[in-house]
Amino acid sequence: MFADVDPVTLNLDPDAAAAAVTERTTAVLPVHIFGYPADIPAFERLGLPIVEDACEALGAVHADGVAVGARGHPAVFGFYANKQLTTGEGGMVTVADAGLKERIDSERNQGRAPDMGWLDHDRLGFNYRLSDIASAIGLAQLERLDDMLAGRARVAARYREALAGIEGLGLPCPDAGGDTRGWFVFVVQVPHGHERDDVVRALRGLGVQSKPYLPAIHLMSYYRETFGHREGEFPVCEDVAARSVALPFFPGMTDGQVERVAAALARALGQAP
Ligand SMILES: Cc1ncc(COP(=O)(O)O)c(C=O)c1O
Repeated sequence: MFADVDPVTLNLDPDAAAAAVTERTTAVLPVHIFGYPADIPAFERLGLPIVEDACEALGAVHADGVAVGARGHPAVFGFYANKQLTTGEGGMVTVADAGLKERIDSERNQGRAPDMGWLDHDRLGFNYRLSDIASAIGLAQLERLDDMLAGRARVAARYREALAGIEGLGLPCPDAGGDTRGWFVFVVQVPHGHERDDVVRALRGLGVQSKPYLPAIHLMSYYRETFGHREGEFPVCEDVAARSVALPFFPGMTDGQVERVAAALARALGQAP
């Protein structure tokens, strides 16, 4: 079951999730979308197991000072090439429960317990091992992670200033109530009345790459065809998804590059000075 998102944080709305719970619900899966902490304490009040998708939220911190992924629920992080820290492919699961850790360690390692021999297995498992080479690439970046995250936060602050004058543009919500975003992407929503895909095309014509990001999952072909999902079910998500564009964003982006993107976006929206 899906549920709609909060219009400010764009994270799963706890009230909408509560309303979607049925006797068949086995767990809640909040995503910390675009690196902004989801309201996990509100989901905890539902009394169901929680699995957190923290793939985009490395470095994010909840209002009470607990790092995203460290509340004790299983949380997954992604290290795909576009992430804050990358190993090319792969990721990480954080857990608080020692038994669960042992099971995950075993299942990703073809069902072998840590004290077992080379060719003995006490359960069925998979080969989900992150290779030593990939891990080495990740560990080298881990040493620079604070700097890389600070770089993204600096670029985000610069974008916020440079885009402030564009009328009707939706910006990522600022940190509020003590929650801290782990900057991953810089996604804006084009003003109502503009076609997002036209804006992406116009930006391309001005030499600026951008991407529609993210589409609403329930409207993807598989979910339409398999479960019969249609427009109108989750209006907040659908409106935001239809207007969202990811702008160029990387830790080393210069102020001049940010200003160039901002000027191109203003022009693409017919708001050039
Ligand atoms: C929120 C979120 N969940 C899941 C994934 C999938 O991660 P992976 O491709 O490493 O399985 C990604 C990123 O690609 C993501 O951003």
